Order: sequence, then C-alpha cells, then structure tokens
Amino acid sequence: MSYSYKDLGLVNTREMFKEAMEGKYAIPAYNFNNLEQIQAIITACVKTKSPVILQVSKGAREYANATILRHMAMGAVEFAEELGYKVPIALHLDHGDTFEVCKSCVDSGFSSVMIDGSHHSFEENIELTKKVVEYAHKYDVTVEGELGVLAGIEDDVVAEKSNYTNPDEVEEFVQKTGVDSLAISIGTSHGAYKFKIKEGEEIPPLRFDILEECERRLPGFPIVLHGASSVMPKYVDAINKYGGKLDGAVGIPEEQLRKAAASAVCKINIDSDGRLAFTAKVRETLWNKPDEFDPRKYLGPARSELVELYKHKCEKVLGSAGRA
Ligand code: G3H
Ligand code: 13P
Ligand code: ZN
Repeated sequence: MSYSYKDLGLVNTREMFKEAMEGKYAIPAYNFNNLEQIQAIITACVKTKSPVILQVSKGAREYANATILRHMAMGAVEFAEELGYKVPIALHLDHGDTFEVCKSCVDSGFSSVMIDGSHHSFEENIELTKKVVEYAHKYDVTVEGELGVLAGIEDDVVAEKSNYTNPDEVEEFVQKTGVDSLAISIGTSHGAYKFKIKEGEEIPPLRFDILEECERRLPGFPIVLHGASSVMPKYVDAINKYGGKLDGAVGIPEEQLRKAAASAVCKINIDSDGRLAFTAKVRETLWNKPDEFDPRKYLGPARSELVELYKHKCEKVLGSAGRA
C-alpha cells in the first residue's frame, strides 16, 4: 500500500525554499520521534506563523514506527488547523542512507527525502543520489543530497573529522543528480559536542568562504545546514545542576546561524537543542518532585519548554516567523 503526501495535507520543500531564498530566511527542520515533540513543533510554528519541516531520521523511524509516523504527520496538519493557522508542513527523511529507505519513505507519505551519500566516493554519491531523485520526482517528492562530511556522528556513519565541501564539485553534483537542495559541510557537526575548545578559547567561525563559493557556483540554489544546534548553556547548565553530566558541550553561536539563514541556506537542521531542552526540563521537574510518577507531569513541562525553544529559533535565529 502506497500513500501520497498530498493526500495527507503535506507539501514538498520546493515552494518553501523558493520563498526562503527570496526572503533571506531559513526554514526550520526540527527532528521528532514522539508525541510531545511534534505537538511542540506544531504549536510553536503555528504561534509564530512559520513554515516547518518535520524531520525523521532512520533511527527515529525505527523507533516510532512508519505507520504511526504517517498518522502523526496527518495529525500535525489537522492540529495546526485546529490551533487556527494552516502553516505549510513538510515531512522529511533525515540522512537516508540507501535507495530502499528513501523509496520506503516516498511510498509511505514523506514529501521530501535526504539521501546522504556523502561517505561514498563522489561518483558513487552521484549514482545513488540520481537513483533516489529519479524515483522521488515521479511522485513530486523533493530530494536533498550531501557533499562533504560533517564531523561527529551522521546516523550510523561516524566521521572522525570534518571534510569540508569542495566547491569545485557542487555544480557537477547538482547537475548530474537533479537534487532539489544540497547539504554542505562548512564546520558544523552533529550532536552536543561540536568543538573541542579549551577555557578562554573562541568557538571557531563557520567557513562562510566555502558557503559563498558554493552560492557563486549555484546561484539561487537552496543550501542546507546540518548540525546547527547552538547547545544553549542554560540547558546544559540545568542538566548538570539536576543530576546530569555533560562536560564541554558547545554548539554554533546564534549570530552565525542568523548570517547563514540570510544567505542561500534555506533549511537549518536542529535536533540536539530540542533534546537538551527536553531533558533539562524533565530532570528539573523530577529533581524537584521526586514523588512524581505521572509521565504527563514531567513530559508536559518539557513540552512547554520545547515550544519556547522552537518559537525562539523561528523568531530570533532563522527568521522564518511570519513567513507562513
Ligand atoms: O543527524 C542526526 C540527527 O540528529 C538524528 O539523530 O539518528 O539519533 O535520530 P538520530
Ligand atoms: P544537531 O545535532 O546540531 O541538532 O544537528 C541535527 C541535524 O543535522 C539533523 O540532521
Ligand atoms: Zn544532519
């Protein structure tokens, strides 16, 4: 049984990116795998009138179940309307690593997929990405490819150190594969430990020179930034204060993300910040109420914290608020 995202009320990313490029802002791509996260994302994006990409990793899909996810996405569309504003919502596969997983997502109602062939050779990446594009485009599903490897963990793929995107390769890659957007590596990385910096050292700036060169080679083409969490100190501190242990967690300063959002970067991926905010609030609540055992009583406050976090991102970082 196949499902079209169009029947679920979702949209692909084409129009979203076109408007983000013209308006010089970025669409938030927030990862989710549970009820509270999707409720918070939709609430924040409706409140701020922001278009949104609901993003699901391969691991999240296994965790939540593909059928349940499809119904959650459908529910998200109706929930937004119930809250009073119909924001454009895309359902996107994050870091698909095979043709099969991308096809399975297209067939089960995703409106956009990422095929991450960045750990393959350039030629193999082109071949794999092209195959996904040919399939996805038959159903008007948009495709994100990737060139260059981010440091840290890309799902199952562990990269020791960052391998920046080579701007000399981007035109050929986009032209030969037909992708709709391209993720590039300019110094961001996944997770909560993005840089190893010593006391008093500055966070190294992103490689805007590489981004600018990619923009020059691909005028008007949507670029995607992964690993873009800021790892906000207030959440790291709260986690440590209430029994957790996160040493040396550090992320991308918001100022740099604002600069990226105003460029050809049309999609900014944020997962870790949501995880940190959620965990911080759950820890705080359970610390203060050790006798509490109703999950709604600690997941509810965590969900409210997520709403505030996502609103902040849309309004103050990505510039997507008011664009829906
Ligand atoms: O880029 C990776 C995302 O943060 C998803 O992470 O594979 O743990 O769900 P995950
Ligand atoms: P963060 O780990 O910085 O949130 O990045 C998430 C991401 O890139 C998902 O693809
Ligand atoms: Zn990523």
